[in-house]
Amino acid sequence: MFDVILYQPEIPPNTGNIIRLCANTGVRLHLVKPLGFSMDDKQLVRAGLDYHEFATISIYDDWAECGERFKDRHLFAVSTRGTRRYDQVAYTRDTVFLFGPETRGLPPTLLESFSEDRRIRVPMRPESRSLNLSNAVAVVVYEAWRQIGFEQGV
Ligand SMILES: C[S@@+](CC[C@H](N)C(=O)[O-])C[C@H]1O[C@@H](n2cnc3c(N)ncnc32)[C@H](O)[C@@H]1O
Repeated sequence: MFDVILYQPEIPPNTGNIIRLCANTGVRLHLVKPLGFSMDDKQLVRAGLDYHEFATISIYDDWAECGERFKDRHLFAVSTRGTRRYDQVAYTRDTVFLFGPETRGLPPTLLESFSEDRRIRVPMRPESRSLNLSNAVAVVVYEAWRQIGFEQGV
């Protein structure tokens, strides 16, 4: 199944929503430090998460460590500065999505390390700045899951 990486997430309720989304869709979640919260933050717990929903989360000290783990995978940067529409990609089970932090997005050097066809964006109205991080993750994960026939979903 897919993997989702959150690069330096800042806002606990967003990560809480994404933990639940990943648990509901069978996606593995990876967090790159520094995090804007601790994993026992009350606001994470308030998202109503069960213990098993935390069980599949991996945490990395930095991007070098995380990127090394996924270097042979089908990795996409998901960004408002992406050039390819997210729904115009054929996803496979080994697809990995990298999302940026809420206030800053992905650092330019990290984004530019992806070829243009691996930088995807979700369309918005021209005057819009960005979607909420957890909404962006949901839109992209559900499109990828739809493409593989909602495998193991009921
Ligand atoms: C709140 S946004 C960051 C906004 C930041 N000012 C920027 O321009 O990237 C947090 C993350 O959500 C994802 N995101 C939000 N809206 C998006 C969109 N329309 N297309 C692709 N990714 C989006 C990206 O991963 C982004 O780094």
